[in-house]
Amino acid sequence: MLVSVVAGALWAMLPAYVPNNAAVLAGGGRPIDGGRTMGDRRLLGDGKTWRGTLVGTLAGVALALVANGVAGPVGDTVGVALPRFPLAAAVGLAAGAMAGDVAASFLKRRSGRERGAAFPGLDQLDFVVGALACAALLAGGWFATTFTPGRLLVVAVVTPALHVGTNVVAYWLGLKDEPW
Ligand code: CTP
Ligand code: MG
Repeated sequence: MLVSVVAGALWAMLPAYVPNNAAVLAGGGRPIDGGRTMGDRRLLGDGKTWRGTLVGTLAGVALALVANGVAGPVGDTVGVALPRFPLAAAVGLAAGAMAGDVAASFLKRRSGRERGAAFPGLDQLDFVVGALACAALLAGGWFATTFTPGRLLVVAVVTPALHVGTNVVAYWLGLKDEPW
């Protein structure tokens, strides 16, 4: 029971977990804000680029399609019914994860934090809130049946830990400038 809720929740979030990491690998080039400022600070900063955002979103959607292809055999092996992703849900989760991260950078700049500064809480949950909100918007019926209260609870508890863990690893590997 617990295993099936956890497995279902993490599987349902796969298209939202990948974009941020793909953006770290692909980032660079023109910043989304084009260097524009609001007051005396950047609108978003150099850490949010078109390339990172686009590649991140495409990576999330691609992973959803791969997940759809293997959900049957994997689910049978684990003994759990795993969720599938209609395209609208995949796009919502992936683009929403990137949008949440971008929105967080906007808030970080407004609160005086320079690029790369930590904002505990926001850093770990921005992309979750963005992903869930966009998926609910683009695929409401799918969202309601897929994200049961139990799965949402698992997502809220496990995601911050996963996020901290992957960022520490990316920092160790020299892919990221800060371990958050
Ligand atoms: N990245 C990107 N585009 C995005 C998100 C991330 O290009 N939409 C890349 C950037 O190279 C960025 C790196 O991934 O520097 C790490 O992402 P993140 O920690 O989100 O950005 P920060 O550089 O820390 O900037 P911020 O303070 O705005 O979060
Ligand atoms: Mg950062």
